Amino acid sequence: MSPALPGPTMASPVTPAPDTAGLPRLLPPAGKPADDLATHLGRHGPVPYRGGVGRLIPDVRAAGLTGRGGAAFPTYRKLEAVAAAGQGRAVVVGNAAEGEPASHKDEALLRLAPHLVLDGLQLAAEAAGAARAALYVRRDVYAATRLDRHLTQRLASGLDRIAVEVVPAPPRFLAGEESALVSRVGGGAALPQFTPPRVFERGVDGRPTLVQNVETLAHLALIARYGPDWFRAAGTPEEPGTMLCTLRQADGSVTVAEAAIGTPLASLLDLGPGTAVLVGGYHGAWIPAAHASGLWLTNTMLRPLGAFLGAGVLAALPADRCGLAETARVARYLALESAGQCGPCLNGLPRIAAALADLAGLGGRRPDPRVLADLSRWAGLVEGRGACHHPDGTVRFIRSALRVFAPEVRQHQQGRCSARSSVPFLPAPAGPSTDADWS
Ligand SMILES: Cc1cc2nc3c(=O)[nH]c(=O)nc-3n(C[C@H](O)[C@H](O)[C@H](O)COP(=O)(O)O)c2cc1C
Ligand code: SF4
Repeated sequence: MSPALPGPTMASPVTPAPDTAGLPRLLPPAGKPADDLATHLGRHGPVPYRGGVGRLIPDVRAAGLTGRGGAAFPTYRKLEAVAAAGQGRAVVVGNAAEGEPASHKDEALLRLAPHLVLDGLQLAAEAAGAARAALYVRRDVYAATRLDRHLTQRLASGLDRIAVEVVPAPPRFLAGEESALVSRVGGGAALPQFTPPRVFERGVDGRPTLVQNVETLAHLALIARYGPDWFRAAGTPEEPGTMLCTLRQADGSVTVAEAAIGTPLASLLDLGPGTAVLVGGYHGAWIPAAHASGLWLTNTMLRPLGAFLGAGVLAALPADRCGLAETARVARYLALESAGQCGPCLNGLPRIAAALADLAGLGGRRPDPRVLADLSRWAGLVEGRGACHHPDGTVRFIRSALRVFAPEVRQHQQGRCSARSSVPFLPAPAGPSTDADWS
């Protein structure tokens, strides 16, 4: 889990690899914040600019870095596309919207190691030939960090070559979807837009735009310093590196941890008394705890089970809770969080959420005997029909619950529930969002 770091490679490093061998790489050692510039520079040295558009991209490609915002898309491909299309007028945006209530890793990174993210943003801007750079940060997190101070200091010290504008993101589930981000950074509402064109072709103000999760940018800053071989010393050959995970244990405790990809799930979560594990957050999937204990933190292993790592949310459901009720509460939240712009979200998700609530006994009614058939039919009708992936992700999450909690579903059809506690476990605001502001 914590491989020793090799020395610097010939490829690129300008700074010796940190002698704090192994993990953590992104987070400061012993959890001590590295949010002041002097501490950061003492640990990692100056920003290793490459002096030209595209020059960093071969290292990012060789490292095998993929996006940590959810889709695990190869970062070098987006960099190449934007560098080619941008002709020096591209826009680069670091995404710290972190709209999912169960995820806290971007917030932790910005609090503990903001300069790694800001280094990564500068390097990505250089590699993509960007004329504009922005950091899109959830409103409440922005208020709690000292980002303005950090940015002023970096600009004054000559560290940053391009000024970074901070754009506050509304605390909504969809605000971090890349077309919603582009709309918001362009001065509009944080609502998903109809694609194509994709944002790397036509994004903020019509310019090719590189959107990267802030954790991806922090990894990129380390790859630029220590090289692809160093990066690959953690993780698996197919999925190299580390990732930040938000771990919600069955006892309710929540931590953010950095783990090598390929780490056994059982060493991250206490799976003892749990019934099931949620992997990948609210667009992810449930897996039975007994099964999860034999799995690793890799998409290669999770994909055949209909699951994926997403943005690294892992939650072990306590044995005394009803997985169906948990899913129904989250599904209600997801339906309410939709932007209501397309048919699947206007008609489909509210119906699905209401049926699931009835099945879970949240509606105070005995479920209709046809509810399972209805759920399956409506799920099929919304899939692939939205402008964004919100309906698809929501349906994946619900389908996994019906599969994994099948014995509980049968009990509920008889009006029974085996849970000993009805205290909500997964965070999901109960009512309509109190924040109607999408700006
Ligand atoms: C509904 C929805 C919500 C999303 N929210 C976020 C988010 O909060 N933060 C984020 O980085 N990516 C989010 N994404 C993914 C972005 O669209 C985009 O793929 C990502 O920011 C790209 O960065 P990466 O390649 O570094 O992961 C979301 C996607 C969807 C479909
Ligand atoms: S699919 Fe739903 S969330 Fe996505 S843009 Fe359409 S209405 Fe909005």
